[in-house]
Amino acid sequence: MSAVFITGSSSGIGRATAQLFQARGWTVFATMRNPDDAGLLADLDQVHVLPLDVTNPASVSQAVSNALAISAIDVLVNNAGYGAYGPLECTPRKGIESLFQTNLLGLIDVTRAVIPDMRTRGSGTIINVSSMGGHIAWPLGSLYHASKFAVEGLSEALLFELEALGIAIKVVQPGRVATDFNGRSVDINVDPSLTEYQPVIQALMASSSKDNYRTDPEVPAQVIYTAATDGTTRFRYVSGDDAIEGLKRRRETPDAEHFSRIRAEFGLA
Ligand SMILES: NC(=O)c1ccc[n+]([C@@H]2O[C@H](COP(=O)([O-])OP(=O)(O)OC[C@H]3O[C@@H](n4cnc5c(N)ncnc54)[C@H](OP(=O)(O)O)[C@@H]3O)[C@@H](O)[C@H]2O)c1
Repeated sequence: MSAVFITGSSSGIGRATAQLFQARGWTVFATMRNPDDAGLLADLDQVHVLPLDVTNPASVSQAVSNALAISAIDVLVNNAGYGAYGPLECTPRKGIESLFQTNLLGLIDVTRAVIPDMRTRGSGTIINVSSMGGHIAWPLGSLYHASKFAVEGLSEALLFELEALGIAIKVVQPGRVATDFNGRSVDINVDPSLTEYQPVIQALMASSSKDNYRTDPEVPAQVIYTAATDGTTRFRYVSGDDAIEGLKRRRETPDAEHFSRIRAEFGLA
């Protein structure tokens, strides 16, 4: 039986991914900051709920060694992450550090913790949950996009570093997904006294409306499952019609035209 280790399994895409792998007969290490948030996962066969805060290196190594004591890890899904939005000058240094500790350093630490066993066995797949926002940046999302662009660059370089060891690395780019991401998983920093930013803040709020986040988390979960099991060397997987269309258009559009479109969308033209 194959085993998958998933970060951020308490909700959204991570939880849906844990449920899907379990339903397909996998051993699942459903890791989360607070195991009390496991809900139904706690009662499922072959699901091991493990505490893991990706920002805490001791917690990372403990969770990985707890999992390895039960089974080799065939697939790692680096899913834990959150968003930070607002003018760069309004975001406190602590908020910046916290975002990169979770979205980038946490992902790096978990990856570094699983590589040695995969290297010894000469096999394994690492799937990094990036975003459509790992290739396209929107105003006021500088930090979130920086973290996801970084995940893309890190993954692309690791592809070459790890393939000779028999370890595959893949990136999944979801579009907008109906999860808690825009609720509790977002850190918004604005200063109402800086009136210069108010129009673009209003435009961002409008585009973040729940109506624009309709894709069920089962959709990226299925794409992650495909990435884990398709037996190909494909690197990038896009999830959701908005991401498929948006990323295709971005690839085909020169920068100047693309930037004009974003400016128009956010009333910056
Ligand atoms: N929703 C979207 O539209 C969308 C689009 C593209 C990409 N993504 C990406 O998809 C991933 C999952 O997001 P989601 O939409 O499923 O949002 P979500 O439902 O809010 O889930 C985020 C998960 O990350 C976990 N997490 C946050 N900080 C953590 C930490 N320090 N250690 C361990 N886990 C931590 C959360 O755990 P707690 O329960 O403890 O907070 C939660 O399980 C993220 O990487 C996000 O960037 C989301």
